[in-house]
Amino acid sequence: MSVWAVLAAAGSGERLGGKRPKAFVRLGDQPLLAESLSRLDASAWIEAIVVVAPPGWEEPAILLAEELGCGKVSACVTGGPTRADSVRLGLAEVPPGVAVVLVHDAARPLLEDSVVGRVVAALGEGWDGAVPALPVSDTVKRVDGERVVETLPRDQLRVVQTPQAFVADVLRGALTGSDWTDCSAAVEAAGGRVKIVEGDPRLLKITDEADLERVAAILNS
Ligand code: C5P
Repeated sequence: MSVWAVLAAAGSGERLGGKRPKAFVRLGDQPLLAESLSRLDASAWIEAIVVVAPPGWEEPAILLAEELGCGKVSACVTGGPTRADSVRLGLAEVPPGVAVVLVHDAARPLLEDSVVGRVVAALGEGWDGAVPALPVSDTVKRVDGERVVETLPRDQLRVVQTPQAFVADVLRGALTGSDWTDCSAAVEAAGGRVKIVEGDPRLLKITDEADLERVAAILNS
């Protein structure tokens, strides 16, 4: 099964407040992008990688891939205004014969190969897609302004992460529109069957400075 990765790294990262886009903020002595890129490159599951870079940061992304010796990077494209646009632009670089596309956020640097293995293996079982998921430990409520509308049954809720894997043609067909917060939502809305597999608590998403410090601490431990 041929698997290509699309690495979404084109976000501006406004909540980090710096001058650089999020994928290029420092994590240790490398840009954040380096961690997920080198881990995907080292994965035996992945054949090739398309990096989706922020506008104006394509060349630094290519140079970084070269510096890290990431020989699987096949293309680096400029991202769009939303994550869904960026993924679609990356997906356009994946050749038609490729069976599976794995979409990963550069904002989640601590990618373990076991997670890649779990989402890809699910597609071998006949699912249209697979996402890593974690149970919800807090009670979650639906609200309308200041008023609580209802309390949701926690055992039916999951927090989902990336990497998310999909049958390439299913994702291509589903990813129309710009407002999907993850690729799975687009595939679900198109009627696709998406499996949840075990996620990884360390695969946290970097949104602000505190997240960056937590990830740096995990890397140094
Ligand atoms: O902004 P947020 O943290 O939700 O973004 C999740 C991932 O999607 C990040 O890795 C970010 O670089 C990527 N993204 C993108 N293009 C956008 C917005 C976000 O590739 N326009």
